[in-house]
Amino acid sequence: MSLSARLQVNPEHRLHKINPRLYGSFVEHMGRCVYTGIFEAKHPSADAFGFRQDVAGMIRELAPTILRYPGGNFVSTYNWEDGVGPVADRPTRLDLAWRTTEPNTIGTNEFITWCRSVGCEPMLAFNLGTRGVAEALAYWEYCNHPGGTTLSNLRIAHGYSEPHKVRVWCLGNEMDGPWQMGHKTAEEYGRLACETARALKQCDPAIELVVAGSCSKDLPTYPAWDRVVLEHTYEFVDHISLHLYVNDHELPDLPAYLAVGLRMDAMIRTIAATCDYVKALKRGKKDLFLAFDEWNVWHWKNMHPPGFQPWCYAPAQVEQLYTMAEAVVFGSLIISLLRHADRVRIANLAQLVNVIAPIMTTPGGEAWRQTIFYPFHHASKWGLGEVVFSRMESQTYATKEFGEVPFFEAVAVRAPDTGAITVFAINRHLTEPLPLTLDLAIIEHVTLTDSDPLATNTATQPDRITPCPAPQPGNLPPLSWNVIHLQIR
Ligand code: AHR
Repeated sequence: MSLSARLQVNPEHRLHKINPRLYGSFVEHMGRCVYTGIFEAKHPSADAFGFRQDVAGMIRELAPTILRYPGGNFVSTYNWEDGVGPVADRPTRLDLAWRTTEPNTIGTNEFITWCRSVGCEPMLAFNLGTRGVAEALAYWEYCNHPGGTTLSNLRIAHGYSEPHKVRVWCLGNEMDGPWQMGHKTAEEYGRLACETARALKQCDPAIELVVAGSCSKDLPTYPAWDRVVLEHTYEFVDHISLHLYVNDHELPDLPAYLAVGLRMDAMIRTIAATCDYVKALKRGKKDLFLAFDEWNVWHWKNMHPPGFQPWCYAPAQVEQLYTMAEAVVFGSLIISLLRHADRVRIANLAQLVNVIAPIMTTPGGEAWRQTIFYPFHHASKWGLGEVVFSRMESQTYATKEFGEVPFFEAVAVRAPDTGAITVFAINRHLTEPLPLTLDLAIIEHVTLTDSDPLATNTATQPDRITPCPAPQPGNLPPLSWNVIHLQIR
């Protein structure tokens, strides 16, 4: 079969604005994300705090906008007080989520200072697993109150005279997951989240609160969890979270895997509908937005511990290589987020360094970029402004889970100042190039592709797969991620 596709873009038909927070990421105290990831005191590139500047430079290049911290499952037994004050006085704790030891060398103040230094906004999570309203209020006060109270003065005494002004806060993490420390029913969590949110909004109505929605469409509580939790919290929260990790488990072949991103569209539609239902039920006036605050491709391999291993510090946990095919799946997830950016106002690629991550490090050695680095980098660079109307036509292929799936998938974005149009597109066909018919002229076409769908970048071959100018602009190579800049009339 010879493939072809047509794309009509109407730059004047603006569909919705893209919140820059769509390009967030996530730093959890897990595996080597923090220790020997962003922070490694003895690394040759470390700054005075011990943060690796080679990694910081790569993060600036990736350009995430907002970073969620400190978890993740980690947060559900975390005591924020352990991570502030003189480092020498901080306790070493057991982290029950990942069965590691946590020295608390990095805590909230160091994270926020570093986070802003790499150009990102911090997004903090409260522990609503083993803790409650009082501890959440205390954490907010320590971080955000200007001074004159015991907790805000403590922050000042710790060397941070200015309040951190953290605007986005998560009300716990994955509270619907039976693995979560302090896991709760929807009723129990809904009540706790409501009272925590009510108290926090009393302190500062300008903060934005993310209530923990469903973390998997495969849990039996999905999506009733979201309805019940929102019935409790609608008045006090701004966003509801959802999580999605895709992989090839239970999919018959690579073509089916290349379509797995369609699960994201289905989840967004379901949770947006649940938000609208609760709004109607409450006779409410405000819309709720979605925070896709964990998403990625994840094989669930290299988990630590597979059984009960000895407690250890910063193990190489959940480190996986991303293939070329997975960069295309990843690209399809970015396209999905952009298409739904009217409802998804925050999204966090989980995670940023080493743990299911676009950036990898070798302790004492180099940092390098995985295949998925590039679609994210392209989108955070050129995917700002507004999504505009586009119409796609291409051949399809049959799958069991997703029905007929198009080989060609795309979204068009109009830049805020110049009105320039950028198209992000994938070709899911494994062997056929896809010639594209467009109404607008192409200025530039960059592509990410490789003849081997299972090829990856590695520490020893970090630049096997990198973006390059498309050999024939407008012709999407087999199995490729593409960025096409169009001439506006
Ligand atoms: O991102 C890794 C883990 O995945 C997070 O800690 C948790 O929230 C999710 O299950």
